Amino acid sequence: MARIIAIANQKGGVGKTTTAINLGAALACRGLTTLLVDCDPQANTTGGLGFPKDPTRHSLYHGLLLDIPLSDLLLKSAVDGLFLIPSEKNLVGANIELADHPDRERLLATKIATLRDSFGFILLDCPPALDLLTLNALVAADSVLVPVQCEYFALEGVSELLDTLARVRRTHNPRLAVEGILLTMFDDRTNLSHQVRDDLKDFFGDQIFHTVIPRNIRLAEAPSYGKPIFLYDPQCRGAASYIELAQEVLSHDSKGLGPRT
Ligand SMILES: Nc1ncnc2c1ncn2[C@@H]1O[C@H](COP(=O)(O)OP(=O)(O)OP(=O)(O)O)[C@@H](O)[C@H]1O
Ligand SMILES: [Mg+2]
Repeated sequence: MARIIAIANQKGGVGKTTTAINLGAALACRGLTTLLVDCDPQANTTGGLGFPKDPTRHSLYHGLLLDIPLSDLLLKSAVDGLFLIPSEKNLVGANIELADHPDRERLLATKIATLRDSFGFILLDCPPALDLLTLNALVAADSVLVPVQCEYFALEGVSELLDTLARVRRTHNPRLAVEGILLTMFDDRTNLSHQVRDDLKDFFGDQIFHTVIPRNIRLAEAPSYGKPIFLYDPQCRGAASYIELAQEVLSHDSKGLGPRT
């Protein structure tokens, strides 16, 4: 039965999509059938896996709002065992169209339950907002992985995110765990990266993944070729870091980690 991980941080550009694509690909390479769900109207996970914009293609929008079964939306990626439910820009309307729906925060959770048995992991790539799409992902998830960029304003917005997690636990999903805080775009050569890492360690303690994702130009280039890093440059440091992250996520299973708050 799949473990569902939401990849969330309402701060923009911190590495959510890069992590969704490359952690998903690394898990699939380890033989775990993995589904990426692109919950972001920017559709960067969809594009980054090589699926061009196509207004005629059904997407998560049709699954959430028009009751198309999620199993009809699955696309097979170029990586064996890695599947995608794509997004498109009109998903942004879901925030308004769902506003009056009695089950507006639970729709994804209900619909995705039918797919749990078919996958080892389901990763939900969230938009950079604490909106209804992110709430749906947090309600559907077993745990949340929070990428944090190693830069000066790294902790900006974190308290709102933690408040939101607490609210989701109170109202809809008491078992929501913290999979981990992931430091991204770490630049070993700068004092700032080291200082931010130390501050984040003071703040989050053992919730921080041991794996740190380095700033690596190959990770930034790969999406423009529509490829996960393992098909673009499997030897680069960025690829190695996402393999290590997949290993660490898998080790949480064997330790049977309960909710970390
Ligand atoms: N480790 C890295 N090294 C270098 N560049 C990176 C790295 N991770 C991400 N990037 C680049 O930083 C930018 C933001 O990354 P990404 O799209 O993954 O963030 P995001 O949190 O999903 O953004 P958004 O909030 O807009 O959805 C992208 O151009 C991406 O290619
Ligand atoms: Mg993104």
